[in-house]
Amino acid sequence: MTPPKRCAAVVVGAGPAGLAVVGNLLENQLGKIVWIDPYFQAGRLNRKYREVPSNTKVALFQAFATATQPFRSVISSTRVPNAFTTMAKLDQEKTCHLHHAADVVRALTDGIVKMDQVYACRGRVSAANLDHTRSWTVRIQGLDSQGETEVSTPRLILCTGSSPTEVPVPVSDGSFKRLDLDIVLKPSELASTIPRSSPSTIAVVGASHSAILALLNLVDLARTSHPHVHIKWFTRHPLRYAEYMDGWILRDNTGLKGRAADFARQQLEDSALSTSEAGRVITKIDCSGGPEKETAQYRRHLPSCSYLVQAVGYTRDPLPDLLLDGVALSLDSLNWDSSFGGFTDRNGRVIPGLHGAGIAFPERVVDPYGNVEHAVGFFKFMKFLKRVSPQW
Ligand SMILES: Cc1cc2nc3c(=O)[nH]c(=O)nc-3n(C[C@H](O)[C@H](O)[C@H](O)COP(=O)(O)OP(=O)(O)OC[C@H]3O[C@@H](n4cnc5c(N)ncnc54)[C@H](O)[C@@H]3O)c2cc1C
Ligand SMILES: NC(=O)c1ccc[n+]([C@@H]2O[C@H](COP(=O)([O-])OP(=O)(O)OC[C@H]3O[C@@H](n4cnc5c(N)ncnc54)[C@H](OP(=O)(O)O)[C@@H]3O)[C@@H](O)[C@H]2O)c1
Repeated sequence: MTPPKRCAAVVVGAGPAGLAVVGNLLENQLGKIVWIDPYFQAGRLNRKYREVPSNTKVALFQAFATATQPFRSVISSTRVPNAFTTMAKLDQEKTCHLHHAADVVRALTDGIVKMDQVYACRGRVSAANLDHTRSWTVRIQGLDSQGETEVSTPRLILCTGSSPTEVPVPVSDGSFKRLDLDIVLKPSELASTIPRSSPSTIAVVGASHSAILALLNLVDLARTSHPHVHIKWFTRHPLRYAEYMDGWILRDNTGLKGRAADFARQQLEDSALSTSEAGRVITKIDCSGGPEKETAQYRRHLPSCSYLVQAVGYTRDPLPDLLLDGVALSLDSLNWDSSFGGFTDRNGRVIPGLHGAGIAFPERVVDPYGNVEHAVGFFKFMKFLKRVSPQW
């Protein structure tokens, strides 16, 4: 089957955010949707993070899975037992491993791609051009020997995801190997990546969720199969936890929760580290006090490390080439504006029909204390899309 020449919307990416977009657009009954992804298997969550403990409770994954009518139709027509029944049996108030969430996203995706209003295309969007009629012509590099195809649409929604950020350090890269954060977050792969018998000192940079889980996995490794592993923990701010206030959560998006929070409180706080099990293999390198002190600490402590893993946030994956009447739109000139889920140019003019969602294009939220955060999480994507997508 070839894709239609014209459709109501093109959705790029089939991670949790792309799925949530398609569910909402179907509910809004816009017409035919072309959905593009190389795999249709729940994005990075399934590829990389199945072994990660969630920092949100099961109930929120359930709320995501039942938030749109098309999702509910998939659930009711999927033979049991399935990923939904498995998740329904878990304690809804607790966290779970992300393989449960990934399996739910895959099962929903499998059902949604079979719907008449959806044309699922295995491939990558390489470019999209907006013409003077406000129509996007989207170029798709098909897998499955389909070659290149084009489809035009008034709506183009980018749900293209993000990958771990790597930043330069003030010590030459030659003295240590970089260790991919995704590997450190996957204990089964980590164990075969680090040598077992020779001593390895691993530098971990950061103090947010990813950093704490990286420390947790490395401590487990040192405690079990890799007794010669030592960790140097480069951190520039105190541990920060989510706090449950009256009806809202302080540091909902940046504070530690779930297993990472428990581990940090019990073993990594200064009051605990000197006596904890983690403290036996972790040396904390205090990088607070500004860039000069941070640089000095790196210069002093990094050369003795064999590996460096940075857990310093996530960066948007490369977007397809975007053009305006054949002229390349520089990405620096595009501003993501989550108030309406779209983009503006340098002069504040809205780019017609271009939208985004997910970890790459999250909603900017302000809490009752005025703190600004980016809302990243399954149910947060859904809440955001319920608000903005009816206007698309
Ligand atoms: C380690 C980690 C743990 C997390 N834990 C939780 C949690 O416990 N609870 C929670 O609610 N949230 C969690 N999140 C946050 C968030 O829910 C996930 O990051 C989620 O996977 C983001 O989904 P996404 O769809 O935006 O991106 P992705 O999952 O990265 O999906 C993007 C998709 O787009 C595709 N794509 C990219 N470019 C193109 C192109 N040009 N053409 C076609 N396809 C393309 C990719 O192949 C991919 O399939 C976690 C995030 C991380 C990093
Ligand atoms: N299921 C889970 O448990 C889990 C695990 C990982 C991630 N996640 C989710 O994924 C998203 C991203 O989380 P994240 O923990 O990877 O990152 P993050 O929340 O974006 O935080 C990035 C951290 O890196 C620090 N940082 C940035 N640049 C740095 C540098 N050059 N040197 C040292 N520190 C630096 C920041 O500190 P400053 O404030 O000092 O800049 C900040 O604490 C979040 O939504 C999170 O909930 C969930």
